Amino acid sequence: MIKLPGKLIGWIDERFPLVSTWKTHLSEYYAPKNFNFWYFFGGLALLVLVIQILSGIFLTMNYKPDAQLAFASVEYIMRDVQWGWILRYVHSTGASMFFVVVYLHMFRGLMYGSYRKPRELLWIIGMILYLALMAEAFMGYLLPWGQMSFWGAQVIVNLFSSVPYIGHDLAIMIRGDFVVSDTTLNRFFALHVIAVPLMLVGIVFLHIVALHAVGSNNPDGIEIKKNKDANGKPLDGIPFFPYMVAKDAVAAVLFLMVFTAVIFFSPEIGGYFLEDNNFVPANPMKTPEHIAPVWYFTPYYAILRAVPPLFGSQFPGVVAMGVATLIFFLLPWLDRGRVKSIRYRGPIYKAFLASFVVSFIGLGWLGMLPSTPTYTVLSRILSVVYFAFFLLMPWYTRIDKCKPEPDRLTS
Ligand code: HEM
Repeated sequence: MIKLPGKLIGWIDERFPLVSTWKTHLSEYYAPKNFNFWYFFGGLALLVLVIQILSGIFLTMNYKPDAQLAFASVEYIMRDVQWGWILRYVHSTGASMFFVVVYLHMFRGLMYGSYRKPRELLWIIGMILYLALMAEAFMGYLLPWGQMSFWGAQVIVNLFSSVPYIGHDLAIMIRGDFVVSDTTLNRFFALHVIAVPLMLVGIVFLHIVALHAVGSNNPDGIEIKKNKDANGKPLDGIPFFPYMVAKDAVAAVLFLMVFTAVIFFSPEIGGYFLEDNNFVPANPMKTPEHIAPVWYFTPYYAILRAVPPLFGSQFPGVVAMGVATLIFFLLPWLDRGRVKSIRYRGPIYKAFLASFVVSFIGLGWLGMLPSTPTYTVLSRILSVVYFAFFLLMPWYTRIDKCKPEPDRLTS
């Protein structure tokens, strides 16, 4: 415990569980000793959330959520507001980096079986976070009111109109209008700036509560709580504060070096973080030649396009896209492997995981390109590979030849 004026701490502690909370969640919270590179990304996601909220607050001070003024207000932020350009680039880079970090965080979960018992709920809360993050990014993207903002929103909201019976009304309800308009911009602004961020903060809190209830998994995929000393402390654990905090701080500095390098040297990253067409004001009368979402949505977009329409309706593609996103929720129950960590899995799981990664990246790449017959065939093959990872999991995880797990952490 840091030596703060004892009297003050005593005064607070009589009225608020300060010392016990500090001990339970930091100085006497035992994390596995063998955390590696992959364990940095949860903390980094937390850091990016804070960066997004802070930069967002200052952007909101000069942004105008009005279809006539929005685009110009962003240009005003970029050119006239003091430090406005950096605020905007921090926020736009932060959006993409959030997904980089969260995808790596989720991949760690796949590698080490972090979704398995007793962490099912932790995983589900994580998935809810992921969905909220997607909604947050989608609505934020409309705000600059550029061509891609407008047409991207138009395309995605139109997908809802393919839902049988209720689709037409559903799309109108989301837009608040028959087309994407000032009304849509206003409601997306309200949701992006207050409703979803509040949810994100609340769900992150639940995520950490669930994590601390069960304790962290680790690269060996074994439970450190099974081996405790006479005082009940896990033999393979070390206090989160100061040890893991110091380790995470190093990761945060390295991450911020990459983050600022993007901001200062290439904030658009060749159109991946900020698309070229979004520097053109929204024009409802002129559809861009090629509409594609930002990179973090493109794997799902490629799956949408890979599925052929049925009686002229895109609904089957929309369902495939929805299932591709939501199927992660089922992982704790699809995996029947005897071990959790990839270190002790057999060759079949490793092959399936590798092919899943290839399919995800391949679909992400295809989703950015205009569709051609060859690309459509490729997207179909990769979509099958993508779904095979999940749907065949109960089978291949059971027959796979796993190595025996150690009793204690190995490194
Ligand atoms: C805003 C987004 C998120 C934040 C801020 C966040 C934060 C964290 C933090 C700080 C940790 C502990 C450190 C670590 O293990 O890396 C953690 C662990 C974990 N998170 Fe997240 N997370 C987010 C999204 C997600 C998502 C999308 C998933 C999965 C769908 C997920 C699943 C998990 C799991 C399973 C663990 C425990 C991992 C283990 O112990 O091996 N999280 N998260």
